Amino acid sequence: MGSQRSKVEIKGFEAKYYDILMGLLTFGQYNKWIRRAVRGTGVGRGFNVIEFGSGTGVAACEFSKIIGESGRYIGFDIGEEMMAKAIKKCRKRKNVEFAKERIEHPIRVPFKADIVFMSFVMHGLENQDKEKVIKNAYHNLKEGGIFAVFDYSQIKYQDASWFAKLLIWKLECPLAGEFAEMNFPEFVKNYGFEYSKVKKYFRGLFSLYLFRK
Ligand SMILES: C[S@@+](CC[C@H](N)C(=O)[O-])C[C@H]1O[C@@H](n2cnc3c(N)ncnc32)[C@H](O)[C@@H]1O
Repeated sequence: MGSQRSKVEIKGFEAKYYDILMGLLTFGQYNKWIRRAVRGTGVGRGFNVIEFGSGTGVAACEFSKIIGESGRYIGFDIGEEMMAKAIKKCRKRKNVEFAKERIEHPIRVPFKADIVFMSFVMHGLENQDKEKVIKNAYHNLKEGGIFAVFDYSQIKYQDASWFAKLLIWKLECPLAGEFAEMNFPEFVKNYGFEYSKVKKYFRGLFSLYLFRK
């Protein structure tokens, strides 16, 4: 069971209409941003990829196209309805699989990954769970592999645009505001990663944080 302060475990109505709701909230841009973030990880043919919180499978399909038949993708998620959508979306893709697991529990896959990817999950975890997830990413990556986290940028409330204030501090859970104001790269570096770079999207509101093992 996740924290009471978190909203990233998606069920019921929200899960059923997740893609539509995200589309409405982002003026139809959500899936496009996810696909851009996937390409921004530097993924290539034959790569082995793990995703934590794979949701409705938007990133899975994009990774699948890029890695080709010689690559492998495993998405982990705890939401049954979200995973059912992902399985349906990726049903023709032979290099994709999904597993129902909590990502703060120890995750062991039968390969070392080139990339561990997360999108819009990290901000909704309490710090002790962030720590467990980061350790999971580290364990499952090969040396030199990339931990790619697509999420809110580092923004102080007083400097935020009205849209960022509405989205992060009103519509999102309290953890999202804490995430935006923390020094996330420094936090991740504590667990052995080297901070590689950040790529900004949508007028700087979202960031793709890239860390190297
Ligand atoms: C906000 S959604 C993001 C989904 C997708 N990554 C995206 O960007 O559209 C968060 C996803 O993470 C999953 N999730 C949240 N907490 C989790 C946990 N502790 N373990 C596994 N999955 C989790 C939810 O079920 C949901 O599918």
